[in-house]
Amino acid sequence: MTTRPAFTLAPDGVDPRRVPARALAGGARMPGIGLGTFGSDHVAHETVAAAVLAAAAVGYRHFDCAAVYGNERLIGESFRAMLESGLIRREELWVTSKVWNDSHDRVTDACRQSLADLGLEYLDLYLVHWPFPNFHPPQCDVTARSADARPYIHEHFMRTWRQMERLVELGLVRHIGTSNMTIPKLELLLRDAEIPPACNEMELHPHFQQPALFDYVVAAGIVPIGYSPVGSPARPARDRTPEDTVDIEDPVIVEIARAHGVHPAVVCIKWAVGRGAAPIPMSVTRRNVLANLRAVTEDPLTDAEMAAIAGIGRNCRLIKGQVFLWKDGQRWEDLWDLDGVITPP
Ligand SMILES: NC(=O)c1ccc[n+]([C@@H]2O[C@H](COP(=O)([O-])OP(=O)(O)OC[C@H]3O[C@@H](n4cnc5c(N)ncnc54)[C@H](OP(=O)(O)O)[C@@H]3O)[C@@H](O)[C@H]2O)c1
Repeated sequence: MTTRPAFTLAPDGVDPRRVPARALAGGARMPGIGLGTFGSDHVAHETVAAAVLAAAAVGYRHFDCAAVYGNERLIGESFRAMLESGLIRREELWVTSKVWNDSHDRVTDACRQSLADLGLEYLDLYLVHWPFPNFHPPQCDVTARSADARPYIHEHFMRTWRQMERLVELGLVRHIGTSNMTIPKLELLLRDAEIPPACNEMELHPHFQQPALFDYVVAAGIVPIGYSPVGSPARPARDRTPEDTVDIEDPVIVEIARAHGVHPAVVCIKWAVGRGAAPIPMSVTRRNVLANLRAVTEDPLTDAEMAAIAGIGRNCRLIKGQVFLWKDGQRWEDLWDLDGVITPP
């Protein structure tokens, strides 16, 4: 039997009402920074669940979860602890989860499982984690391929999206959205959706700014949620290539950090929020968790600093998604429709 952790508010935390919110198309307001919860294979589920509790204690109210992270049940214990304390009400929380690639044909069941694990009656946001139904064993090598891997097939994606729309009708989720999409895929979805995506979760950090997709999403009234906002410095070796660059070592970021007296990671967060994204940094170190939240409530970057960071993009995608390729001989770029059209089967 697990003992439920105790929850108290931290005296050195930030008042959540001071955290800027992002307005969604339907009028809901999402806290403009969330805590990422993907521990990959190097942070234990218990450690991530403890970080969720610590983050709530210092003022986070937005949490980015996913079934495939494998830790929703333990994070659910953290949510139960904060709600049972009476110090946080459910409506003050913003909880996102995501349907994994193995459940595109059984979205309602997958959503109900996440709700049961997280101990919640509804999700604020439910995302289609990847637009491919391709999956692979946890912690596998990036060269692994599932035998029945498929390309993006819009008709199939719409079958999944209809199930997502149904979740809203059922009251199981308040908003639905996408993740790891491209402009050609979003164009088709916006053409055919009855409920358009409220948010699109996408990789965003100074060395990977995705300006065209970012502008497209914003113009469509979709809120961009930025993942790996610090440049995912602790990602496992299998997710690294020799070409990858390191945002927090960029001289422009380091110089701005020095001027503000903060860690370069904090500059990445300030830039993300100043740009209009909702970053979801992951941290299990209390000092960093708090610094990232303070990053959005105090001492914003100047216009000149924002412009300087806008100029250091390197088009360096870190989460390349190789395991989702569907046939031999492909390059990871084939997942991302770089020619402006959906990569053919
Ligand atoms: N939709 C998707 O497909 C997708 C893909 C990837 C990620 N995500 C989401 O995005 C979240 C964040 O991405 P990520 O975990 O890849 O990368 P990230 O947030 O860019 O980087 C996390 C790393 O940065 C360090 N860090 C954070 N704040 C810091 C600070 N102020 N000072 C120094 N170091 C700091 C953390 O170390 P400490 O723990 O020691 O602070 C941690 O190792 C994930 O957890 C997940 O929720 C979604």
